[in-house]
Amino acid sequence: MIGIIGAMEIEIEGIRSLMTEKEEKTISGVKYVIGKLGNNNVVTAVCGIGKVFAAICAQTMILNFKPDIVVNTGVAGSIDASLGILDIAVADKVVQHDMDTSPIGDPKGLLSGINVIYMDADEKASALLVELVKEAGINAVRGAIASGDQFIASKTQKDEIKANFPDAIACEMEGAAIGQVCYVNKVRFAVLRAISDNADGGAVEDYPAFAKKTAENYIGIIARFAQDYSL
Ligand code: ADE
Repeated sequence: MIGIIGAMEIEIEGIRSLMTEKEEKTISGVKYVIGKLGNNNVVTAVCGIGKVFAAICAQTMILNFKPDIVVNTGVAGSIDASLGILDIAVADKVVQHDMDTSPIGDPKGLLSGINVIYMDADEKASALLVELVKEAGINAVRGAIASGDQFIASKTQKDEIKANFPDAIACEMEGAAIGQVCYVNKVRFAVLRAISDNADGGAVEDYPAFAKKTAENYIGIIARFAQDYSL
């Protein structure tokens, strides 16, 4: 079973339209559609915005549908100059940039209790995603994806994330929450994010202009992944 959690209705609808043998179940206000893509069983959901909604969705999906891997898709702001608008970031690891217990001596981003800052994405799934992105003729960059409950729209905020987490290539609001839920449940995960803006002063205009277009670009990539990935 492959779990796909999207941030946007449009991308998940696009994937659902390709699924067969569909059934649906709504839990805590989130609709989970299960079905098939090729020979693989898949479960899809739109989680809502932010780390709490993302965590609720991932935990519910894991307990109810037992995915072997959870893939999170959506858009992101670029944090690294190697990623331009419409390019795609694939996580090699994820971090919560707004997790901060540094006043009591911890490094920034440390998840107390499990004592990790970065959580590794599944290598095999991430490598396949990069391959499929490149095959589609889109620039793919692998690196850390940083999540936080903030839309990043200024150079100051962007520079702070890069200073605290130099490996970060993109910022968004859900991936590392899903990563944490997968980490504690020992479930593999991957994150693919298309760049809709540069997380700077232009982000407020760029985000609505490019979010839909990027989603249209990668629906096919995620569908191919769900068909090709061997568990
Ligand atoms: N998703 C897309 N662009 C983003 C940004 N600039 N900050 C946070 N999440 C985003």
